[in-house]
Amino acid sequence: MLNGKRVILGITGGIAAYKISFLIRMLKKQGAEVKCILTPAAKDFVSPLTLATLSGEPVYHYFWNREDGRWTNHVDLGIWADLMIVAPLTANTLSKMAQGNADNLLMATYLSAKCPVIVAPAMDLDMYAHPTTAENLNRLENHGIQIIPAEEGFLASGLEGKGRMAEPSTIFERVEDHFALSASLKNQTILITAGPTYESIDPVRFIGNYSSGKMGFALAEIALQRGAEVILISGPTQCQLHHDRLKRIDVNSTLEMYEAVHHHFEKCTGGIFAAAVSDYRPATKAEQKIEKSEKTLQIDLVKNPDILASIGESKSKNQWLIGFALETEKPEVHARKKLQKKNLDAIVLNTLQDAGAGFGHDTNKITVLDKDNNSHNFELTSKREAAKNIFNFLTDRFV
Ligand code: C5P
Repeated sequence: MLNGKRVILGITGGIAAYKISFLIRMLKKQGAEVKCILTPAAKDFVSPLTLATLSGEPVYHYFWNREDGRWTNHVDLGIWADLMIVAPLTANTLSKMAQGNADNLLMATYLSAKCPVIVAPAMDLDMYAHPTTAENLNRLENHGIQIIPAEEGFLASGLEGKGRMAEPSTIFERVEDHFALSASLKNQTILITAGPTYESIDPVRFIGNYSSGKMGFALAEIALQRGAEVILISGPTQCQLHHDRLKRIDVNSTLEMYEAVHHHFEKCTGGIFAAAVSDYRPATKAEQKIEKSEKTLQIDLVKNPDILASIGESKSKNQWLIGFALETEKPEVHARKKLQKKNLDAIVLNTLQDAGAGFGHDTNKITVLDKDNNSHNFELTSKREAAKNIFNFLTDRFV
């Protein structure tokens, strides 16, 4: 799996740097090409000669080579790599990655790299527990970087607790998993709907809902990480996602979402409909702002088309289709009914009864039910983990 894969290993100035030699050995043994880039502080902890000998490549640490005066092109390094690992990741480099600071070769390469990035933080107990560290890690995660959390144990300071870099064998396993998964959706073009819809009442008001779009965006992110082409059709949201294989289409209303979905679904291998679509819209949109006058105001609503059901009716038999259901009573019974009625392959159920699940949260608690009567309850996780669980469940079954 790793044969011929090109890995940039960024090493920063933490005591755990001495363990990186073992990771290089494991990667090389499996046929990977490894190029090491050191931050200036890393050289105090691990010798460039050791790394050059183990990797069989020159070790990079300056923008230019002090012996022959030649420039090291960080853009070429960034393009060369299939994967970049930063281990150990110190609090200092973490903060630079979170801010986009490029004052050394490793950081300039990180900012130029097009490939996925995995980091393994390592720092002392209190530094790891500091809210700034948590914020910076969160920021990285939002940029799609995979984080291997620090582990509990004895720290170089003599303290004991969380902060130790994950063992080289754990990092190696994550690298193997990454390459195994990164091709698992390679032949798929997946349409994902996300976010709420806004139904205009007049030029300044609308009927909407509290959907943040986070679940749909997490699904898109994981699908991209696993090699799919993604068409993301989203209602109004603050969520951001950038990727070469992503086509994002922003819509406001259900009717606009309906048009966009029908326009694009034909060329897709499947779809996941995570949008919280408004079931009704005002029968008419007032041309001018409605002024207040009477004590009560009535707005007539008309039913919106069910986008998912309409795709369920028209999809070809090779296309797979997944819906979401947010249920408050008899959740499984209602979700199964929807699965059948809308001609789905599976449905992802979340209930508002579970704390931390549903609208607006960063976490979700889901159950996936499929058309063959299988079901799986997942624990409360981040929406990103929930997205991974959904794809793990679907891959090999339908996808
Ligand atoms: O019937 P219900 O609204 O509970 O179904 C939820 C599922 O149907 C979600 O996957 C949602 O994205 C989709 N849906 C849709 N168009 C609608 C209503 C719901 O695509 N008008």
